[in-house]
Amino acid sequence: MIRKILVTSALPYANGAIHLGHLVEHVQTDIWVRFQKMNGHECYYVCADDTHGTPVMLRAQSEGITPEELIARVHQEHLRDFTGFNVEYDNYHSTHSEENRILSSEVFVKLREAGLIERNTIEQYYDVSKDMFLADRFIKGQCPRCGAADQYGDGCEVCGATYSPTDLIQPISALSGTVPVRRLSEHYFFKLGDCTEFLQHWTRSGTLQREAANKLDEWFKVGLQNWDISRDAPYFGFEIPDAPGKYFYVWLDAPIGYMASFANFAKKKHLDFDAWWGAGSETELYHFIGKDILYFHALFWPAMLHGAGYRTPNGVFVHGFLTVNGAKMSKSRGTFITAQSYLESGMNPEWLRYYLASKLNGSMEDIDLNLSDFIARVNSDLIGKYVNIASRTAGFIQQRFAGKLAVQCPDHALLTTTQQAADSIANGYTTLDYGRALREIMALADLANQYVNEHKPWDIAKQAGRDAELHDVCSVAINLFRLLTLYLKPVLPHLARDAERFLNIAPLQWPDAQHLLSDHTVNIYQHLMARVDTRQVDKMLDANAAPATAAPEPVATPPTKKTVPPAETMQSDTINVDDFAKIDLRIARILNAEHVEGADKLIRLTLDIGEATPRNVFAGIKSAYDPTRLIGRLTVMVANLAPRKMKFGLSEGMVLAASGDAPGLFLLAPDEGAQPGMRVK
Ligand code: 2FM
Ligand code: ZN
Repeated sequence: MIRKILVTSALPYANGAIHLGHLVEHVQTDIWVRFQKMNGHECYYVCADDTHGTPVMLRAQSEGITPEELIARVHQEHLRDFTGFNVEYDNYHSTHSEENRILSSEVFVKLREAGLIERNTIEQYYDVSKDMFLADRFIKGQCPRCGAADQYGDGCEVCGATYSPTDLIQPISALSGTVPVRRLSEHYFFKLGDCTEFLQHWTRSGTLQREAANKLDEWFKVGLQNWDISRDAPYFGFEIPDAPGKYFYVWLDAPIGYMASFANFAKKKHLDFDAWWGAGSETELYHFIGKDILYFHALFWPAMLHGAGYRTPNGVFVHGFLTVNGAKMSKSRGTFITAQSYLESGMNPEWLRYYLASKLNGSMEDIDLNLSDFIARVNSDLIGKYVNIASRTAGFIQQRFAGKLAVQCPDHALLTTTQQAADSIANGYTTLDYGRALREIMALADLANQYVNEHKPWDIAKQAGRDAELHDVCSVAINLFRLLTLYLKPVLPHLARDAERFLNIAPLQWPDAQHLLSDHTVNIYQHLMARVDTRQVDKMLDANAAPATAAPEPVATPPTKKTVPPAETMQSDTINVDDFAKIDLRIARILNAEHVEGADKLIRLTLDIGEATPRNVFAGIKSAYDPTRLIGRLTVMVANLAPRKMKFGLSEGMVLAASGDAPGLFLLAPDEGAQPGMRVK
């Protein structure tokens, strides 16, 4: 039976670059979708950029462009990166689209008609200088529980307490450094609590992994809170129907972006939108997400769909986080690796696809990218095992048999065993246990290599009168290689495409495992995949690391192991490259500069260093500069200096200026062309 399946990955935010964490999910989804398509199902994979919200608005402001310009640029970058990893969407849209505007309003109106929307007046912090209400992440202050300074409005990173921003001690606006005031505002709420019974049923109907369902039980026990779905202007998003100045919170229209992307696709392909999204739809719908957004996808989203009269998802597949070398991805360790840096280091995207797939098992556990293991695994499995089968036997077929395989494919037990593995490997893909599928495939590759080793075609080839035997052995090996190509194809689509070219066959489909190639001419074999070179991995780490090029290297560091040289090898009055690398120097644009009341030497600078929120820095440069002359200039900032609480507010870094014996103070400035956020190396 041909199934109709719609699949999504979480929509990446439009305020940041694609990194390896995103790739875990999009590669995981892509493999699943490719597997379904190879089985002949009508399966569509849609995604989009998640474009709305305050961070996008502020980032556009700091770049001096409109949010629309920003999201158009980021859209291209995101699609370039995902495509670079051979992720093949049927549609990659945007939440800032007409389809999404219409659908978001429609969902809201239907929820309102169903009595699931209520209005409440709430008190929030307001930044008078910026003329806007402050989201929790834009308020900082002292933790009400442990007293730690410089904590965000929604929770303390030191003691883990969660609280509301109004509980913070000495709050300040992270946007302006001013003290915010409290103001009342009317907000719209989705009555999630009213959907409890429906959700309890939905979450227990086979839609979630066991771990995810358990997590939901914890939330049900605490009780579901109604959800604030509106934000006040200024906000980059969609205005709420009949509510001027009120906008949908980004998380309201983000999942509706799944529908909108499909609507956009359906129009192009003449598909019936209602047949896929209407209540009672007989198509299947699956979302792939990370464990951090389970609440949104397993509670808000099905409740919204159900409440508004649409179909609900058949499954939400949740994965864990990616760690690199056993630790959380970290910018300062250079392990916050962007997709672009991986590709620009000359690394083959399918190496990473293979490695990630080998670690994925359908659970919510975190998966680790251990870089030495990555190199060893890819080189051993893909080159040493899989590619090796063809590279050791194809030459004989070409030279001795004019490229033609044996007329009758020899009846060999290993061929049957390899064909019979199709169902079990398929089960691995279906259940997202790609690790098991790949282990089975590699065990078969081991047997294939063992077969070649035992029959030694290179020896037979030297002996007269053994041509038929040579032909049989190599034909068996090439057939084993073809079957393994088929099994690996969802994970390694480009490698499989190249192998299909060599084999001179039509694109492999899953049922093709049931037959073998005989009396068939293959093409000249060309090497299919290079080995991973540790220098490429180093190059990638360097591209993501803090600066490491300016100073001469005092001691050679071994590749891939970025170790600090032993202390005795360093001179006391020099620092080594690793010391220098600890300083995160960035190009900053001065968005605002103003006198600080009561301070003789200080100017308050608001600096854009390419982050969502501008930094506030107090600089002792008043003697040399008129603040108005500084606005718009570029300078250099130490971005990872511990924030310092000063009498006038929090200083979140330091700008660099030169001074000497002669009077004068000179702010450093980069050459033309530098952009905020660039690293100084
Ligand atoms: O967590 C995130 O990155 C969100 N942008 C995911 C949105 S998924 C969907 F709901 F749109
Ligand atoms: Zn605390």
